[in-house]
Amino acid sequence: MPKIGIGVLVSGGGSNFQALAEAARKGEIPGGEVRLVVSNRPGAGALVRAKALEVEALVFEPKDFASRAAYYERIGDEFKKRSVRLVCLAGFLMKVEPNFIRMFPGRILNIHPALLPRYGGKGMYGRFVHEAVIKSGDAESGCTVHVVDEEFDHGPILRQARVPVLPGDTPESLAARVLVEEHRIYPTAVKPMIEKLLATTNEETVP
Ligand code: GRF
Repeated sequence: MPKIGIGVLVSGGGSNFQALAEAARKGEIPGGEVRLVVSNRPGAGALVRAKALEVEALVFEPKDFASRAAYYERIGDEFKKRSVRLVCLAGFLMKVEPNFIRMFPGRILNIHPALLPRYGGKGMYGRFVHEAVIKSGDAESGCTVHVVDEEFDHGPILRQARVPVLPGDTPESLAARVLVEEHRIYPTAVKPMIEKLLATTNEETVP
């Protein structure tokens, strides 16, 4: 049976991308396959991981496009060429444009390293999130997988996992604890999406 293509957008290290690609290969996302990773930064560590995993990778920098809409149009075209039906943002630091959301309606997911709706929004990424959590004195943090809409860190929440904030935590130690959970829950959120896409694809192709 043909697989459902997954496309991943990254800006950094790419450990979540790797977790998704490996989960799919191990059969933990039945019927799903990571087909293409796109980075907005040429130096992203995710590109090294893509090479090691033998997943096709492309780099598109916004500065090379006339507009953000044109930028996302191109990325969407590359995904569609490879029959990508589900897009996963994995440490992707740009806001996606409405034209891209329209190309993949309800089929773009994001992972955020905090318990949304807390600690989300513009400027709340990477160590800034963990710094804010530690400063607040919260006893726990975690991560969230949600559907992407036109606001930063906003759409419907699909999965969350919690971790304790421990005395003496630094942004780095908390980030590392959260990241373990990110790698665990992202594939579990993708799995039912792929099942749904497989079911509708089959319906469409049955005469
Ligand atoms: C993760 O904490 C993710 O939630 C956040 O950025 C980090 C990216 O890590 N958006 P990686 O690039 O997947 O290793």
